[in-house]
Amino acid sequence: MFGAVLHFNPNSARATYGRAMCLDRLAEVQSSNSKLEQAIMTYRQVIDLADEDPNLVPLPLLRLAAEKCIERMRFRGFLGKAIRVQQRLLQRFPDDLGLRNQMGVTFLLMNQAPAAKEVFQEVLQKWPNDGFAQVHYGFVLKTSYNNNSAGAEFLRRGIESGAEGTQDGRFYFHLGDALQRQGLENEAYEVYDNGVEKGLFLNRYQRSLYNVDRLTSRPVWTLEQTTHQEFFRKLEENWEIIRDEGVALLSESPADGYRPEAENLRDTGEWKQYELYSRGRKITANCVKAPKTCELVKYAAATGCKRGQIKFSVMMQGTHVWPHTGPTNCRLRAHLGLVVPEGLRLRVGQEQIRWQQGKVVVFDDSWEHEVWHEGASPRLILIVDVWHPDLSEEEWKTLSPI
Ligand code: LMR
Ligand code: MN
Repeated sequence: MFGAVLHFNPNSARATYGRAMCLDRLAEVQSSNSKLEQAIMTYRQVIDLADEDPNLVPLPLLRLAAEKCIERMRFRGFLGKAIRVQQRLLQRFPDDLGLRNQMGVTFLLMNQAPAAKEVFQEVLQKWPNDGFAQVHYGFVLKTSYNNNSAGAEFLRRGIESGAEGTQDGRFYFHLGDALQRQGLENEAYEVYDNGVEKGLFLNRYQRSLYNVDRLTSRPVWTLEQTTHQEFFRKLEENWEIIRDEGVALLSESPADGYRPEAENLRDTGEWKQYELYSRGRKITANCVKAPKTCELVKYAAATGCKRGQIKFSVMMQGTHVWPHTGPTNCRLRAHLGLVVPEGLRLRVGQEQIRWQQGKVVVFDDSWEHEVWHEGASPRLILIVDVWHPDLSEEEWKTLSPI
């Protein structure tokens, strides 16, 4: 029917918008990308109409069409297109705070931290108390510029504003982290406790953000508790074979061998990893150079763990890894000790773990953990993530990879 209206009134903004909404619904019902793309194009026609002749489109309708257009473009992954629409709209509505903030969010989705920083900075010059801009500005400063003090300050003010979009686990997570890295433990745990109260974290130490709620939770697990003990015993029995492959790979050139940890988790030192499996997929180029290990780790709950990895991990003396938390409670993390000098400590929650050569230890890395290497030579372990034993094989299939 909207098509019929448009046949006689091709410049009807309302009918164009109506048509876009129909396509949008159809896209959803049919899970169809091509319908979604048609919907996006049709929303954009409303904006084009306004460019041709502002009298054709009432402003609230233009605003609505633009919002939908941007939102659907983001969903479809057309981030560059979304930015262009946002820029066009900002020329028309230069004082629209929401629009400016949303452009900052699109830049964040594009991993363009400098552009996002600039947008939120501009917003805060004009609207210094806008909580949405404050949390996002703080987030960028903390995560992309390593500025823990200013980052924490803006995150705190934004969260305290209670404004829409500010009560998100990621903001509490990074505020606490920024405080911990400044040595402000008590303040950090206050933030975490508030997050627990809001239902954003499982407990003050377990702050993963991709969780299944009912799973048994404890920081350190015995091999028996994991139900995977036979698999872990097999790794222990073959630890020397695994060690020899891991050690031999240490002399590979850095570009195709061990890669430096890239998640900004280190306070001091050097820490590198050699991935064999990631998100339930074999890294073939690396496995060909560690064939025996890759054969030994074949076990559905490990090699099929779409929310984990299997990797060698080498840590140099003098390394301190900041307290940190993994992304999900759906996996347990096993460490097989391969080369273990004296002087190492791993804290998980309020418990301590010590590595031993040829022995597997298991912990839940969604609990806060922290590592100190105060020994005299490098330490090497094999990390093997396995599905949490409370998950069904049906859930192994349906949970999204992380
Ligand atoms: C971690 O999983 O964060 C670390 O304990 C890994 C490692 O190599 O010690
Ligand atoms: Mn970790």
